[in-house]
Amino acid sequence: MSAFQLLIYGCSGYIGRLTAERAALHPGSVVLAGRSRKKVAALADKLDLPYRVFSLDNPEDIDANIRDVKVVLNLAGPFAFTTPPLIHSCIRVQTHYLDVTTEPSVFHLLFETLSPAIRNAGIVCIPGVGFELVPTDVLAAMLHHHIPTATHLDLSFAFSDQSRPLAASPGATKTYLSTLADPQHCSARIDGRMTPVRHFYKTRRVAFPTAGSALVGFVPWADSLTAYYTTGIPNIDTFVPVDPSMVRSALWSFFLVRALLRHFPPFQWLLFLLVDIFYSRPPSDADRKGVRIDVWGEARDERTGEGVRGSLQTMEGYGFASCAALEAARELIERADEGGAVSSATGEENENRSGEDRIRPGTYTPSRAFSPNFIFTIPNTTLYTFIRFKMSPAASRLASVGLASSSSSSIAAVKSKSTTLIPPVIQGTGWS
Ligand SMILES: NC(=O)c1ccc[n+]([C@@H]2O[C@H](COP(=O)([O-])OP(=O)(O)OC[C@H]3O[C@@H](n4cnc5c(N)ncnc54)[C@H](OP(=O)(O)O)[C@@H]3O)[C@@H](O)[C@H]2O)c1
Repeated sequence: MSAFQLLIYGCSGYIGRLTAERAALHPGSVVLAGRSRKKVAALADKLDLPYRVFSLDNPEDIDANIRDVKVVLNLAGPFAFTTPPLIHSCIRVQTHYLDVTTEPSVFHLLFETLSPAIRNAGIVCIPGVGFELVPTDVLAAMLHHHIPTATHLDLSFAFSDQSRPLAASPGATKTYLSTLADPQHCSARIDGRMTPVRHFYKTRRVAFPTAGSALVGFVPWADSLTAYYTTGIPNIDTFVPVDPSMVRSALWSFFLVRALLRHFPPFQWLLFLLVDIFYSRPPSDADRKGVRIDVWGEARDERTGEGVRGSLQTMEGYGFASCAALEAARELIERADEGGAVSSATGEENENRSGEDRIRPGTYTPSRAFSPNFIFTIPNTTLYTFIRFKMSPAASRLASVGLASSSSSSIAAVKSKSTTLIPPVIQGTGWS
């Protein structure tokens, strides 16, 4: 029997602190952890929670600190540095693992390289239980449910009120910069394979439910990798709103930073220093208050022209990530057996059997582990009516070659018919 149900590692960071504060409202069996005694002890004292201090340098130390815990929630990033030591320790001592990574190399490690070891250890591993993955992943699963033969999936998000965007935290900025060095960083799922592309290699128009119509351009997110595990759809593109006048300068910046990171690795530490000096204030509670995000997706079968679009609106990414991570931990504590206990019944294909109450050992995307209804555990989340459409053959051809201009013409050519597939407004009521 575990001494603690949940250990939150990296509690002294921005997302760690938000999550710890939320966890303290429902203390249960939670222990805080991190590498800096001063920071961890100060927070734990303030929140009146127990704590442990250990770095990730010594495997025996990590084992000793997580052995008697049921679930580790890792919030210390960049995860390229923290996930490998923690997941190897989780495998050794049979402790379940969650994180809020956004890094493709980390998803690749957990879904591909370590998946058999994770199953054999009898543990459950669910990376990306934050804003990056949960809303887009559940939307992808819902869209795929309505068009099981879909050949293409497009995903995007935008701030509902474009005049109130929220800046990335210093930690998220450093993580993004560090991923630019990864040669696989800028890849899209094309014909089932992760294929290197350039930023903005596709653009299209998207009608967000409250942000309105916007031009969006391809930028790499983890969903190109992970929505394939969720849906099996072979072509996946991920978009964010773009200002056409900025595209050329943004492309040059990406090119320059990537070249420097690849050919001169210490440049990463210089960038981190610059972030610390010039960009040290993470979003405050006042900055975050009332900020909402539209998440949009479209699945289509380009052989038949059939498609479906759906969208949801939810809270800003940091509040969302802290809620979703704790909800994921709560589900895992309730629905996974103690690590190692059921290693014979494994989740062979990273899919928990639908309707099954227990989560079997394996690596999962959030919607595969918990079902797409997981989104309704997040407070103030609204799912909008899904719309079925039929594309004309010309629009379908344009969309499949991904012409920059394809979308506006394909959207214009779409004959859409509104079909209510899911009740139009559903509010989340979970852990607030
Ligand atoms: N998926 C999502 O929705 C989502 C949302 C928010 C953030 N994130 C990700 O979460 C990560 C943290 O973001 P943040 O804004 O909280 O960053 P932050 O404020 O810089 O905090 C980083 C935390 O990680 C710890 N840490 C970093 N490297 C470590 C290492 N090698 N060993 C042990 N601990 C280490 C830091 O410990 P010290 O304080 O001791 O330095 C600190 O607690 C980033 O990777 C970000 O991209 C994801």
